[in-house]
Amino acid sequence: MKFFLDTANVEEIKRISALGLVDGVTTNPSIIAKEGRNFEEVIKEITTIVKGPVSAEVVALDTKTMIAEAHNLVKWADNIVVKIPMTEEGLAAVNILSKEGIKTNVTLVFSLAQGLMAAKAGATYASPFLGRLDDISADGLSLVKDLRSVFNTYDIKTEIISASVRTINHVQDVALAGSDIATIPGTLFPKLWKHPLTEAGITQFLQDWETFSKK
Ligand code: G3P
Repeated sequence: MKFFLDTANVEEIKRISALGLVDGVTTNPSIIAKEGRNFEEVIKEITTIVKGPVSAEVVALDTKTMIAEAHNLVKWADNIVVKIPMTEEGLAAVNILSKEGIKTNVTLVFSLAQGLMAAKAGATYASPFLGRLDDISADGLSLVKDLRSVFNTYDIKTEIISASVRTINHVQDVALAGSDIATIPGTLFPKLWKHPLTEAGITQFLQDWETFSKK
């Protein structure tokens, strides 16, 4: 499974990229707004740090303006993926952009049917939102499992980006479910390599070594 960072915080991206753990980055308007930086400037900076796909989202709701925004976004760097919301207008934009060879990430996918529509329209990536389904007592993980199963059955090449990932268990579960990618917030990512037993083990080893060294 590939790991994307779901952030526009350049310090987080640099820190975790330095470990060789980042295959790509996803952003959305909320994530960009959180940084309080110019959209174009921050996306361009991210594309210089991460060589893999960097998703930048359109804000228009009509097809024509979405396409115009997409054409502008892809000029910023070679590794830009245009993030498009899962609507009728969005699907129309994805259909046109895919025929132009522009990579798209259909976002806000909450059902198997929506994932199938995104794939059929030509999406490079489809992003099911786990956490937001869990928030309303639905089952985000089941959606990822169902998408994996149906995409395998019909040999659909659209890659599944498990998004709205909130916990270590989410990451582990979507890996087991065969998600192509998990996109992970910068605050969650460091928790993936930490474990209290690792910390306790290191402390114990060092204490024993100190005791032994003094003898
Ligand atoms: O990748 C989508 C993600 O940014 C949404 O996450 O936690 O706001 O549901 P969340």
